[in-house]
Amino acid sequence: MKLPYGGDYNPEQWPEAVWDDDHRLFDAARIDTLTVGVFSWALTQPSLEAYDFSTLDRIVGRAAAEGRRVCLATGTGAMPPWLVREFPEVTRVDFEGREKRYGGRHNHCPSSPVFRRLSARLAGRIAERYADDPAVIAWHVNNEYGGSCYCELCAVAFREWLRKRYDDLESLNAAWNTTFWSHTFTAWEQIEPPSALTEHWKGPDFTAFQGITLDYHRFMSDALLSGYLAEKEAIGRFSAKPVTTNFMGLFRPIDYHRWAEHLDFVSWDNYPPGDDPATAARMALAHDLMRGLKGGEPFWLMEQTPSTTACRDVNPLKRPGVMRLWSWQAVAHGADAVLFFQMRASRGACEKYHGAVIGHAGRDDTRVFREVAALGAELERLGDATLGARTPARVALLFDWDTWWALEISDGPSRLVKYLDVVLAYYRALWRTGTDVDVVAVTADLSGYDVVVAPALHMVKGDLAGRLEQVAARGGTVVTTFLSGRVDVDDNAFLMDVPGPLGPLMGVRVDEWDSREREVVNPVRLADGTLVDSSLLFELVIPTTAEPVGRYENDFYAGTPAVTRNAFGEGYGWYVGAGLEQAGVDWVMRQVLDRHGPALPYPEHVEATLRVAPDGSRLRFLLNHNPEPVEVAVQAGLDLLGGQELRQGHVLLEPYGVRVIRLRG
Ligand code: GLA
Ligand code: ZN
Repeated sequence: MKLPYGGDYNPEQWPEAVWDDDHRLFDAARIDTLTVGVFSWALTQPSLEAYDFSTLDRIVGRAAAEGRRVCLATGTGAMPPWLVREFPEVTRVDFEGREKRYGGRHNHCPSSPVFRRLSARLAGRIAERYADDPAVIAWHVNNEYGGSCYCELCAVAFREWLRKRYDDLESLNAAWNTTFWSHTFTAWEQIEPPSALTEHWKGPDFTAFQGITLDYHRFMSDALLSGYLAEKEAIGRFSAKPVTTNFMGLFRPIDYHRWAEHLDFVSWDNYPPGDDPATAARMALAHDLMRGLKGGEPFWLMEQTPSTTACRDVNPLKRPGVMRLWSWQAVAHGADAVLFFQMRASRGACEKYHGAVIGHAGRDDTRVFREVAALGAELERLGDATLGARTPARVALLFDWDTWWALEISDGPSRLVKYLDVVLAYYRALWRTGTDVDVVAVTADLSGYDVVVAPALHMVKGDLAGRLEQVAARGGTVVTTFLSGRVDVDDNAFLMDVPGPLGPLMGVRVDEWDSREREVVNPVRLADGTLVDSSLLFELVIPTTAEPVGRYENDFYAGTPAVTRNAFGEGYGWYVGAGLEQAGVDWVMRQVLDRHGPALPYPEHVEATLRVAPDGSRLRFLLNHNPEPVEVAVQAGLDLLGGQELRQGHVLLEPYGVRVIRLRG
C-alpha cells in the first residue's frame, strides 16, 4: 500500500487515441489513482429514461487494466440541459430573487424533489454498475457543494425545517426576537427566506433579523447535506466502499461539522488565495480543520493545482518546488492522499488555462510534469510510512460555523472584524512554534488538551462554558478574545455581563467597547514592557478576579486592561480584549505555551509538525516555505526522503525544502 497519487481525469473530453498517451505519462509520473466522472451526467444519462455507461465503462476499464485505482464520482456536480428543460424546478432562485435558467455549474436547488430523486437514481445506477470493480476504491458524491437558493420549494422546506427546530411559533418568535420591528409571526406561511427581497439590504451579511438569517444558513447547509445523503444512501444499496465529497476547507457557507459524520473519510480541495510564504499558515489551518472534522482521522487532499488556477483575476504560477512543498504540507497535517485537479488540461471552456499534469501539447518534458513525476517517485519510495498516522496535539483551537455566521451578519460592533482573521492570528502564533494543533468543533472532547484557544467565540452553546472551566480547573489554559461569549444559540445577547458564561473563567467583565477604522491604533503595553499595536476593536476590560497583563496606552481608557489572566483552579483563563497585531498575539500565546513546556519559534516561514504512525514511529515534518535556504534544529532520526541518518543538531533546508524524519527512540 502507498498513498494514492493522481487526481481528476476527464478523458471523455478528448479522443480515445489520446488515452494511450495519458496512461503512458501516468506511468512515468507514478500516478496510481484517478478521480473520474465528476462532470459526466450528460454522458451517463443522455435523457430521462436513457442511461449509457459505454464511455464510463471504457474509462474505468482502462484505468483498471493499467493497474490504477479509481475514485468514482456520481457525476451530479453539474446538470445536463435536458434536465432543466424538462424540470425547470431544479434550478435556483438567487438572493436577488432572479430565477436561474440553464447554465453554469453549481446550480441545483437543494430542495427540489426532482433533483433529489434523479441525482440519487444516477448515483445508485453507477454504484450498481461498478460496485464490484476492484479498481474502485471510493465514491465521490457531487462536487464542492455550496451556494444557496431562495425559491418557493426552499421556502416551503425552510418552514418545515423551522417546525422541526422550534415545534411552535411561540418558540420561533422568541428565538428570533420578533417583537423587535413588529415581526411576530402568527402562521408558518408568513415566513419568507431572508433575501434582498425581504430582510436584507446591501447583501447577504446585512440583515434586519440575525435569527432568521442564521437559521437560513443552517437550513441551507442541511438541505445540501440531504442531497448528499440521498446519493450516499443510493450508493449504499450496492456498495460498502467509502463515500466522500470534496470539501473546500475554510468555506463559510457549509457547516462541515454537521456533515462530517456522514462522510466515510474527509476530502478537500486546496486552492489558497495567494502564494506568498504567509499563505502557509492559512493552508495549515485549513488542513487541521479538515483533520479535526472526524476526530483526527487522516483525510484526502482531493484537489490542488499542479501549477496555476484559472478562476482568479490573476493566477500565479507555483514556483519550482512549491507544488512538492504544498503536497508534503498536506501530508504533514494528516493527508493520506495527494491528488490534483487535473490530469490533462481541458481544451475549451473556462478551465482551459487551468494547470494540469499534462498540458495541451501532451509533453513529458515540461517543468510541471517533471516535478509531478519526481514527487510521484518520492511518494513511492516513502511507501506506507505515513499512512494512517495521527497528530498528537496538546493544543485545541475551537472553530464554529455558527459563530462565523453570527459574527459576520452582525450589525456592530465592527464589520472590519472577520472571524477567519482572528482565528488565523491565533493559529499562526501556534504554528510558528511548531505546535501541533487540533482544530475542533465546540462539542469536541476537550479533556485531553493542555491548552484550548477560542478566538472570537461569539456564540457560546450548550455546556461549553462548563467544559472550558474544567480544562482550566485541572491545570490547563483557556484563551479567548474580544467578541467572545456574547450570544446564545439563537444569536440573542446573554442577559448578563460580557463575556457571558465565560465570565467566571475569565474573571473579567466588559461594559463598553470601541470600534475604529483600521488606521486607528492604540498601543498595548504588555507585562514585560513589550509594546504592541492594537486596532479595530478595543474592549474596556474590567477585572473582577483576573490580573492585567497588558494595558492600553491611549485614549480615555489609557492604563486600563486590554489583556488579562485569571487563575482558575490549577490553571488559567486568558482574555484578550483588543485586536492585537500579530506580534502581540504571538507574545500572548508564547506565555501560554511556555507554561506547558518550552515553545521556541522556528525560523520565519518554517513549519514543523509531528505524526505518529500506526506502528508507533514518530514522523517529524520540516517544511521551508521560504525561497531561501534555512537552517533548522533537528532531533536524531532517519531522513525518509534523503535516506540518510541525521544526528541531533541542525539541517539545512533548501529553498521550499522538505524533510520527513523518522525520529529515533
Ligand atoms: C474545483 C473543482 C474542479 C475544478 C477546480 C478548478 O476545485 O472541484 O472541478 O473546477 O476547482 O480550480
Ligand atoms: Zn430552491
